[in-house]
This record gives sequence, C-alpha cells and structure tokens, in this order.
Amino acid sequence: MKKDRKTIASQVSEALQFIRAKIKARPKIAIVLGSGLGDVADTLSEPDPIDTSAIPSFPRSTVESHHGRLVFGRLGNVSICALQGRVHYYETGELEPVLYPVRILHALGIKTLIITNAAGGINRFFKPADLMLITDQINLTFENPLRAIQVSIQHQQLYDPNLQEIIDQVGKEKDIPLHRGIYCGLQGPSYETAAEIEMIRRLGGDAVGMSTVNEVSLASSLGMRVAGISCITNLSTGISDQKLSHGEVTEVARAAKQSFGELLRGIIQNIG
Ligand code: HPA
Repeated sequence: MKKDRKTIASQVSEALQFIRAKIKARPKIAIVLGSGLGDVADTLSEPDPIDTSAIPSFPRSTVESHHGRLVFGRLGNVSICALQGRVHYYETGELEPVLYPVRILHALGIKTLIITNAAGGINRFFKPADLMLITDQINLTFENPLRAIQVSIQHQQLYDPNLQEIIDQVGKEKDIPLHRGIYCGLQGPSYETAAEIEMIRRLGGDAVGMSTVNEVSLASSLGMRVAGISCITNLSTGISDQKLSHGEVTEVARAAKQSFGELLRGIIQNIG
C-alpha cells in the first residue's frame, strides 16, 4: 500500500522523537554501509547503537548480511552516524522503504551523506575488491523519488564535486587506488544478463548494482551533500565468465574492508 506524504511525515517525526530520546550526539555526517561493508560501524569509538527494528516504521532488511543498526559514535574525533544494512527495492517492490532511512537522516540534521554499496564492475579496467568513487549515476530502476513533489526540479550535480575532490585527495594521500565512474542502479533481484551489461556499458555505466540511485536522488533534493563509493565485488556477467552469488559479493567486500575503512576514516577527518 502506498503511503501519503502526511503519513510519512508523521512517521518520520515519531522516529525522530524516538532516536532523540536515546541519543545526545548531533552528528552532521552519516555513512550508509552497503553489503559486506557494515563492519566499518564496529570501528567507531564511543559507539551508541540503535537496532533499526526498534525505530518506529523503520523497514526491515531480509538480506542476511545486512544488520539493521544505526550506530552513533566517533570516527577519529568526528561525531558521525553509520547505517548498517539497507532495504533494497526488490525486497518490497516499493520505493518508500528504500527512502525512509534517508528521510530519518535528514530529519536528524545530517548535512553530508556518504553512501556506499557493493557493485559489479563493467569497466574493463576494474577488478574485484577495487573501489570506485561515483561521479554520476544512471537510474534504471524506473522509479523516481521526486515524482510526487509538485515543484520544478532543478538540474543538479547529484554527487558533490568538492566532496569528490576531497575523496580523491584522501585516496592519494593514503595510497588507496580509487577509480572514478558512473554507477548504474537497477531493481534486481536477479543479476544482469550479459546482454543487459553490454547495454549498460554502451550507455556509459562503469559499475552496476541494486541500490543507491533513488536514495541519492532524494538526499540531494533535500539539500544534503552526497558522496558515493562502490566496492567492486565482482566483474559483471559477460565481463567475467564466473557465476555470481550473494555470498561471494559479501566475501569480496569484506576483503576490501581494510582499505575501505581507512579511506572512510580519512574522508571523515577531512570533512569533519
Ligand atoms: N550486479 C548487480 N548488483 C551487484 C553486483 C552485480 O554484478 N555485484 C554486487 N551487487
């Protein structure tokens, strides 16, 4: 059942009250952690976790590797909050559960959002466990979170150019190689066919996944500065002959977690 704006607004305000009653910190930076990348939240100091199942109206992920936790804490000396686990469009066939966490982060006063994901590599220079800074996106989910908003929507650069510069710089300083590229988001849940990957490659996509595009679109329209980083967990269908499984995707993401964690720490230090 689709929810109207009023219902969503009252749910967000109820959730906000619930979180505010538990947490004193007022971070301005949030990180959404994708498949296999959630461990970064375990490295926060002074952690103050909330189980997302306790937050009013918060969607539950059915994907095994996604713990649903909103963890407040410090990375370096900077107060942040990290969302472990996300709900994918394919889990419900509805957009609102995908967007709800972004609405909550916005209500909490988050100004800078770093969204991460696991993605299949299409660009032939990519290999598993590489990291890609997202410079732009192609939304092939055939959804748009701004559809119901009755205002003219400006053209905008969804991924903040200054943040991109900072992230590039941190990668260089820490000697963590970072590709730059375009992320293409699809509904899933099946991995793509070789023909679909060839189509996305010709459209300009460098990596492909089943998240991020609608969240970023909403976050940016709400005025947040957004950055996106993909962990290339596998080469896409047809780019490699290997069959894909969710298990392998999370395993490679875990293997990349050290450099990924280090990169995130550096980024937060620089923007905090
Ligand atoms: N395709 C779609 N989503 C993904 C992939 C992929 O190859 N790898 C990780 N998430």
